[in-house]
Amino acid sequence: MGRIAAPAAHVKTPGPERPRRLRRTAALRSLVRQTRLSPAQLVMPLFVIGGRDRSDPIESLPGHARLSVDRAVKKAHELAQLGVGGVILFGIPDGKDDEGAGAADPAGPVPAALRALREADLPLVLAADVCLCEYTTHGHCGVIRDGAVDNDATLPLLAEAAVAYAEAGADIVGPSGMMDGQVAALRTALDAEGHESIAIMAYASKAASAFYGPFREAAGSAPAFGDRRGYQMDYANAREALREMELDVREGADILMVKPALTSLDLLVRAQRRFDLPLAAYHVSGEVAMLEAAAERGWLDRRSAALEALTAIVRSGAGIVITYLAADAARWLREDAGR
Ligand code: PBG
Repeated sequence: MGRIAAPAAHVKTPGPERPRRLRRTAALRSLVRQTRLSPAQLVMPLFVIGGRDRSDPIESLPGHARLSVDRAVKKAHELAQLGVGGVILFGIPDGKDDEGAGAADPAGPVPAALRALREADLPLVLAADVCLCEYTTHGHCGVIRDGAVDNDATLPLLAEAAVAYAEAGADIVGPSGMMDGQVAALRTALDAEGHESIAIMAYASKAASAFYGPFREAAGSAPAFGDRRGYQMDYANAREALREMELDVREGADILMVKPALTSLDLLVRAQRRFDLPLAAYHVSGEVAMLEAAAERGWLDRRSAALEALTAIVRSGAGIVITYLAADAARWLREDAGR
């Protein structure tokens, strides 16, 4: 009892290399930590609706709600207070049509929120997602011609929406429809309207993913027929993902994004080697929903699991992380820093 056995003669001791030396205390671990998260690199998605003083909870994203403009501004104040880097806005219009005309409506929820947020003058980057799926009756990301999403007919509509968001005060527009040529279409239209200083964050490699489920519930944007595999990427293809990024770079993207995040870590690693643009990852709704559901059952520790996931995304190469956990993570990081 209490006796530690001497190593058997045939068991080798490690020699001088002992990585555990630097894991011995919290201070040492902190000193040698190779990836550090900062609230400034986190971007919070916000869903904006019409009306006033409305907060309509999203069941599959605990703690999140569809917010009227005034409530979204209130939320943005909290995020700025926490040091979060920015917000990305999604609009949920009162009505939809076949062509998704609401996406470019200057009176729509996103331009209204952008104007109000600009007015609030917070130290937050204001990004706006550019897509038609929240605005079309059929829920697809482009217009339908002969039963299929028509790429080239969709481009001018996306460009028009991006210009409307730039006009309303967006710093960044993020085309997420996976239409070929969408970055070039946006860049040309923005420049023609005098918005050459508005940046494009390209959803460059966006997979047709099962992990967007809760988002589609939140945005009411599930396709009414078929699926998105005719335009979003096959998640099995890594080299094609890099090709998508390459094309977006050539078309004038300022930031490259991969999505979902945890299923694309290999793409981040490869993208960081190949491109010099800032890289973003979208930690999507389903990724957070899994974590929330498991934490609710007591199967995972929410905070530890969330910080581990976010750190892995940054370690893999993302400098920007779009995440529904932005506020909580910023709070935890500040608490940890104060220790
Ligand atoms: C719009 C869009 C989607 C997401 C971001 N932009 C939904 C989709 O493509 O179906 C998903 C984000 C998330 O799941 O958090 N095209």
